[in-house]
Amino acid sequence: MDHIKVKAPATSANLGAGFDVFGMALQMPYDVIELVPHDSIEIEVDGVGGERIPTDPTKNTAGITASELGCTAKITVHKGIMPYSGLGSSAASAAGAAFGLNKLFDLGLSDNELIRAAVKGEEVVSGAAHADNVAPSLLGGFTIVHGEGVIRLDPPAIGIVAVLPDIFVETRVARSLLPQKVPLEDLVFNIGNASSLIIGMVTGNLELIGRSMQDRIIAPVRAKLIPGYDEVRESALRAGAAGVTISGSGPAMIAVCELGRRGQIADAMVDAFERNGIKSESFVTQPGGGAEIMGEHE
Ligand code: HSE
Repeated sequence: MDHIKVKAPATSANLGAGFDVFGMALQMPYDVIELVPHDSIEIEVDGVGGERIPTDPTKNTAGITASELGCTAKITVHKGIMPYSGLGSSAASAAGAAFGLNKLFDLGLSDNELIRAAVKGEEVVSGAAHADNVAPSLLGGFTIVHGEGVIRLDPPAIGIVAVLPDIFVETRVARSLLPQKVPLEDLVFNIGNASSLIIGMVTGNLELIGRSMQDRIIAPVRAKLIPGYDEVRESALRAGAAGVTISGSGPAMIAVCELGRRGQIADAMVDAFERNGIKSESFVTQPGGGAEIMGEHE
């Protein structure tokens, strides 16, 4: 094979109480990554926010992933996911590159090995190794990162609205604000919600998923980086969302709801940002699959 084209989806990490543990693949937006064997790692980036992404292979998540896998290739990343959005942009490029290189060079690596390589890319960009975006972008569905690896579940067919305000939040900065110690009662609250969210996913209980997205540890700190956060959240709930929180490290916010209510919730969230003087873009989507081949040729 001398060329492969891969689609790698956006993801929403944390889902409230599952900080650095939960992640969900979204049907859209997504990145498209083209890979061609080459005598060195070369990166080109175009598409949304492409100008913000380094093409130095030692600073680019796809380039670092290729280097971890010991592969040299020309990698062209067509961004469909805005960088620094909270929608797993850097992870999608890394996961797509890992998935594509495994096929292109017939490496025969396991999912966990591909996740480990892609996480290296994430680490350089965000300052911390976390697989909660890489895992769902690679595997699709709802994923739980734990000590031994990753568990994947098929989420129910729920509606998802992700709204991205036109502000800039770097993951590295959003992580630096987080408390290193947390009150025991907040920890207990979050563990309860993380547990019940998994039950909601398994039983297809949208109301339980939504209620379980409340988080007393991470979101309250990061909400300060998102002007209008409380108003946007309340507007989404009034418009019928079952739960609302920050997507990953933000600034995107994510709401879960019945599929038929997505439009009205997207409008309510965009209007609430507008009242706070912030333009935003909404994605009306649902849980989706992981990285997949779009095209290949010998
Ligand atoms: N779990 C990570 C965070 C996701 O919240 O910082 C961001 O990439």
